[in-house]
Amino acid sequence: MDNSFVFHRRLDRTLPTAVSAKGVWITDQEGRRYLDASGGPICVNVGHGRLEVAEAMAEQAGRLDYVHGPMFTTETVETLAKRLSFHAPLSIDRFYFCSSGCEAIETAMKLARQIQLARGESGRYRVISRWHSYHGSTLGALSATGKPGMRNPFIPMLPPSIHIPPPYCLRCHYHLTYPQCQIRCAHALDEAIRLEGKNTISAFLAETILGSTIGAVVPPREYYSIISAICREHGVLLILDEVMCGMGRSGTWFGTEHYHVEPDMMVLGKGLNGGYAPLSAVGCGGSHLDLLRKNNGNFIHGHTFSHHPVAAAAALAVVDILEKDDLVRRAYELGGYLGNALASLSDHPHVAEVRGMGMMWAIEFTKDKETLAPFPRERKIAEKMFDALMEAGVITYKCIGFAEGAGDAIMLGPPFIIKRRELDQVVDAIKGVLEKVLKGAGS
Ligand SMILES: Cc1ncc(COP(=O)(O)O)c(C=O)c1O
Repeated sequence: MDNSFVFHRRLDRTLPTAVSAKGVWITDQEGRRYLDASGGPICVNVGHGRLEVAEAMAEQAGRLDYVHGPMFTTETVETLAKRLSFHAPLSIDRFYFCSSGCEAIETAMKLARQIQLARGESGRYRVISRWHSYHGSTLGALSATGKPGMRNPFIPMLPPSIHIPPPYCLRCHYHLTYPQCQIRCAHALDEAIRLEGKNTISAFLAETILGSTIGAVVPPREYYSIISAICREHGVLLILDEVMCGMGRSGTWFGTEHYHVEPDMMVLGKGLNGGYAPLSAVGCGGSHLDLLRKNNGNFIHGHTFSHHPVAAAAALAVVDILEKDDLVRRAYELGGYLGNALASLSDHPHVAEVRGMGMMWAIEFTKDKETLAPFPRERKIAEKMFDALMEAGVITYKCIGFAEGAGDAIMLGPPFIIKRRELDQVVDAIKGVLEKVLKGAGS
């Protein structure tokens, strides 16, 4: 740890040095193999070490490495946008490319503001989002993120933000039960807009399917039709964050398909090029850009690495693989298999819920199954589960702090090429580790 010149995010341990990765397996310097059951932070979709992707990147870098986004376009970026628009909701047919998810989120927030300005709505600048959401760690994206543990140290630095309760039925904020609740949490958006002053609200930002902060929560069927109607009524733009659940992860190309929702903007990242290079995107409708064009001519924004042809070449190769190998359908089918296998964990006295869809699943833990009381945060149950599974050679993702400051879950999001026997291996490892970590944990 002390002799590394790298400033790592983890300061409390020496990280293993990864030397190679193929399929769903990562190998470290000691020769240990890890089954990547979370695709890192739910990012790797077509699998590690795909030579088609590496070759596409090398070909692009050798032929045309870089041009600046406002000076040139490239065939690679043009083709990628066209291919994405084929799979995207009808409302989305233009794509602005950036490097990371948080950058794309902030791009979408700024685009929303400029669309409102172009509409003559200069008072609208505020974004409403949800508690227990994750939209990124840079200050603008963090202001929208609803994860207190990540926000709290930086609150004085964050632009003001408004959050509403998430559609999290297990611990409903209103103590109601679906469907009698009539989706009370969706109507919270209408209240927030009216209370805060509708002429000040620019956009509502939400993860279509909730991800890493709360763990694979799938909103009720009716949720987004109510949300869309409220946004339309109040002139508020709807931005759906598909950084995690997009690009096939939920078993359809985009999470929006499960709800037939047509957002004003859609944010992509992670699986957009499966982890091969930093790439994210904001998708929006051409009519919004026409408005900007008429108003001040351009989008006031800019990054050195936006619209990067090498990152786009990787994404194009990933889209090719997803289509050619029918991997989105595979994510749907294997997701059903994984969900069934995980369902057997639901009987465990400390498992509160197994939830998810496609290749995006979570297991939430509880101290007491009757009351659903979370474990005290000091017990660090999610961290212990993650560490014990890593020790057993299985990589998962931790979700922490979604139940009144406490709350523990682990998430699975394997590459879509994983085999059934490897999924069985993951579920068996979780069963073994559950016994070790949670034995006598209720006391
Ligand atoms: C839903 C969602 N939005 C945005 C982000 C931010 O992406 P990045 O880490 O690439 O900035 C993430 C990252 O986990 C995410 O899950």
